[in-house]
Amino acid sequence: MKKGLFITFEGADGCGKTTQLNLLKDYLISKGFDVVITREPGGKGLGEKVREILLNYDGVVSDRCESFLFLADRAQNIDIIVNPAVEQGKIVLCDRHTDSTVAYQGYGRGLDITEINMLNNLATHNKKPDLTLVFDVDIETSMQRVGQNKDRMESAGKEFFNRVRNGYLELAKQEPQRIKVINSTKSIEEVFENVKEIINSYII
Ligand code: TYD
Repeated sequence: MKKGLFITFEGADGCGKTTQLNLLKDYLISKGFDVVITREPGGKGLGEKVREILLNYDGVVSDRCESFLFLADRAQNIDIIVNPAVEQGKIVLCDRHTDSTVAYQGYGRGLDITEINMLNNLATHNKKPDLTLVFDVDIETSMQRVGQNKDRMESAGKEFFNRVRNGYLELAKQEPQRIKVINSTKSIEEVFENVKEIINSYII
């Protein structure tokens, strides 16, 4: 593999994507690949500070301000972590990316999706992930997995998460080549089998 790969993990809160990301990281390392993991919001340094505000700030946050904070973090993640690693031929696994903003701020909060797409393109220099895995679960399961201890985003309510989930499914219909939906109600092992099937077709 000459050029690296940029793979994003998406889905509503409690969908199990972070567990699968870590399993895939270990699997790819065992196959000899150079792997970098990152997350949005977060990653490292400044990104983690933005994450802290987004998840824990307890004052008023306007929907547009929330979007711009996610996008600022994204620009930093792309410039500092993702692009340099992909250019060095590494596989980057990113926990959430542009599709989260379309699903959460667009479908969830109701902001204009065309505008969000424009802002996403600005934040990423139009670079799309090579592959996106959407982990799909019903809202009851995802809320159960999240539990009682909710952060600012997780407190948005059931209706909101229904819209987020449908947003992801809609995106997958629009871009079936890039976005693969994985039924994530099954056991961790069964879900990971599906992940490996998809990934193997990319790396072999
Ligand atoms: P996180 O703890 O990473 O949630 P999870 O483990 O489910 O990924 O918190 C990230 C939260 O931020 C999550 O609720 C989704 C939300 N989010 C957006 O609303 N828009 C975005 O663009 C991104 C990247 C995340």
